[in-house]
Amino acid sequence: MPMAEEIIESGPSTQAAAEPEVQQDGPSEEVRTRPQIVAPSRKDTYGIVSGPVPHILDAATGLTPTLQKFRLDGKIAIVTGGARGLGFNMASALCECGVRGIAILDILQDHGDDAIALLHQKYGVAAAFYKIDVRDEDAVRDVIASVELHLGSVDIMLCSAGIADSNIKAEEYPIDKFRRLIDINLTGSFICAQAAAQSMISRGTGGSIIFIASMSGHIVNYPQQQACYNASKAAVIQLMKSLAAEWAQYNIRCNSISPGYMDTALNRVPALDAQKTIWKSRTPQERLGNVDELNNTAVFLASEASSFMTGSDLLIDGGYCCW
Ligand SMILES: NC(=O)c1ccc[n+]([C@@H]2O[C@H](COP(=O)([O-])OP(=O)(O)OC[C@H]3O[C@@H](n4cnc5c(N)ncnc54)[C@H](O)[C@@H]3O)[C@@H](O)[C@H]2O)c1
Repeated sequence: MPMAEEIIESGPSTQAAAEPEVQQDGPSEEVRTRPQIVAPSRKDTYGIVSGPVPHILDAATGLTPTLQKFRLDGKIAIVTGGARGLGFNMASALCECGVRGIAILDILQDHGDDAIALLHQKYGVAAAFYKIDVRDEDAVRDVIASVELHLGSVDIMLCSAGIADSNIKAEEYPIDKFRRLIDINLTGSFICAQAAAQSMISRGTGGSIIFIASMSGHIVNYPQQQACYNASKAAVIQLMKSLAAEWAQYNIRCNSISPGYMDTALNRVPALDAQKTIWKSRTPQERLGNVDELNNTAVFLASEASSFMTGSDLLIDGGYCCW
């Protein structure tokens, strides 16, 4: 099994920021029923409290407590399907926000090698690439053990590996193809989540598991026929909710992101060109999402910023599901 290309020690994780002082200002009735953390404050003619929020900045990062919660300093993350596309972009965002080490799991050797070289170069994180198939439960378990040994205990598991078969009529869908897709998108996600959770439970550390589902888990895409993909993503969302309920007791949070049409290699196939015009016309924002437009949500779900959130699915689809 491949080892981490390079290991660098990251500095001690930063202390949590002090709580901001709470000052209630202004005696008006309206203000009393709408408590806010604000000081110094001004009252406008309607008695609404306004003014700058005096959050105390964290000494190490210079961030407010709110922004500080988005930091991932000292954390170790695994991203499946992170050699390219949405997975790679989200992996970059986790690194940008401070993870100490990152492991990329993917079947694409060259992309994986390039991905960790870039992440290490750009962010100085310890980065490792493992060429494995998410359907291989033994390999996934070995990877978790190797990550624990070489990088540290796993705090974040982001399951982005997935495939799509589009434009296959349900009545003609080859069963072996159907099984393969379910095996990668659903069973593969479960295998990775389970392996990460086992590690988090045995260490008592808790963690965040993020699934990449799809708006196809909510709606039926048009005009392409892709019953299997849609079913696989609906199942990922329900799996995520079930795991969230079971693993909350271990301080493991599970959430998912459901993207709409994104401009990635998955969609850059000639067979889909004509359909993209239709996709855009059915999307209120009239465009595909950029490859980095899930990044902020991934950081949010990975971090303490979403500490009271588990079992939720977040749609990021340019408004597609509104109609
Ligand atoms: N692109 C979109 O429009 C879109 C929309 C909704 C959901 N998604 C989901 O987002 C995720 C990422 O998609 P993307 O657009 O970045 O696609 P992508 O093809 O660019 O990236 C997917 C990655 O997963 C890897 N992978 C595939 N099968 C694997 C396996 N069995 N084991 C390990 N790795 C495997 C691929 O090698 C690839 O690097 C997928 O789960 C996809 O279903 C994508």
